[in-house]
Amino acid sequence: MSEKAWGGRFSEQPEDWVDEFNASIHFDKTLIKQDIQGSIAHATMLANQEIITADESKQIIEGLNDILQDYLNNQITFDVSLEDIHLNIEHELIKRIGDTGGKLHTGRSRNDQVATDMHLYTKAEVEQLIKLITSFQTSILTVAENHIDTIMPGYTHLQRAQPISFAHHILTYYWMLSRDKSRFEDSLKRIDISPLGAAALSGTTYPIDRHETQSLLGFSSLYENSMDAVSDRDYIVETLHNISLTMVHLSRFAEEIIFWSSAEANFVTLSDAFSTGSSIMPQKKNPDMAELIRGKVGRTTGHLMSMLMTLKGLPLAYNKDMQEDKEGLFDALHTLKGSLRIFEGMVDSMTVNVEHLQQTVNNDFSNATELADYLVTKDVPFRTAHEIVGKLVLWCIQNNKYLLDVPLSKYQEAHPLIEDDIFTFLTPANCVSRRISYGSTGQEAVKQQIKQIKAQLK
Ligand code: ARG
Repeated sequence: MSEKAWGGRFSEQPEDWVDEFNASIHFDKTLIKQDIQGSIAHATMLANQEIITADESKQIIEGLNDILQDYLNNQITFDVSLEDIHLNIEHELIKRIGDTGGKLHTGRSRNDQVATDMHLYTKAEVEQLIKLITSFQTSILTVAENHIDTIMPGYTHLQRAQPISFAHHILTYYWMLSRDKSRFEDSLKRIDISPLGAAALSGTTYPIDRHETQSLLGFSSLYENSMDAVSDRDYIVETLHNISLTMVHLSRFAEEIIFWSSAEANFVTLSDAFSTGSSIMPQKKNPDMAELIRGKVGRTTGHLMSMLMTLKGLPLAYNKDMQEDKEGLFDALHTLKGSLRIFEGMVDSMTVNVEHLQQTVNNDFSNATELADYLVTKDVPFRTAHEIVGKLVLWCIQNNKYLLDVPLSKYQEAHPLIEDDIFTFLTPANCVSRRISYGSTGQEAVKQQIKQIKAQLK
């Protein structure tokens, strides 16, 4: 067991299992690069402010760089009794360069140190998420461009509603992701802030330069209040929320993919590479990737709730409860990154069953609104037209027909102004192309939408 960095005022050692409970090294070792980066900035500033000598700063920085190299080569083992990544590295540094290593912590506390690490880490991860979302959006766009003319049933209440373009349907997910991306981008304002130099809570008596460490670490701004700097975890809650909502969107898309790839729908065929089999039923091909993404929303939402509850009622400033901010965030980030990559691969490699989709819309009543609209073109009030069509649909159900199979005589009995152009009017392709309102599913409107998307992606 190593001697505690804070051991001075203690006369008894904690038992091993207490150390184990207290420690965060098992998970905060994830922050080693950020921790060393923060320490190097701090040591650089300490020398520039003549709080330590240039030579001491140099020794500290070289020592830290060596530690990182050795860690990357698997040559460092951490000690649970040293609690966390911060104390493990400091201990290793002092072991290597002697007393000078003990000067690194001048004018600093683990409270601003851990906050700095987490800000650096979250910033880099969110920037990566933004790239992954953009890449997935580009894949969605490619599929959409290939299927502007592919017609499928559009649903409300999971009942066939009106025919739509496959491109229009799938581009809805582009827009959801675009809002997600903009939330992540906006959150960077609150993530990209330097807490370094706040020390334990009240600042420090040394003539440190917080603006210098801010700029060395590439932060856009710094906390104006040292207590806020060490106690703010809002940006973690916000990131967990943004992750959770993106996962909710992915789960909606996943649910559609699961339904679309069922034998009942058969709208798409997933590539074998993104499907799995059954250990008992030889015929099975399961959409496990989509199901996993749908399922993983449980954990990301759980992490968000957990963080909110951890912060509730916490007094200022740092409290050890805050150590609980890490595992949930790390896991949520890992989950979303994995889900985005998998989803992109799944969408890139799936086949859209164009002909089957066409047959599907030929065999339903999703052109019923169109028949009502046809009557409106003959100056029949929409409400009356709705009633007439409702009766025709009922007649079809009773006679095992769809609207395109109804004989002209029956139509004319329903309304004398119906002519034989009704049979081209009611084709699903015509239902889609007649939709001309801005943002609608009509091919021209979808092309306009794609233009907007391309401008946005640029
Ligand atoms: N491991 C701690 C955490 O993650 C670091 C800060 C500890 N500070 C303290 N005063 N005990 O929150």
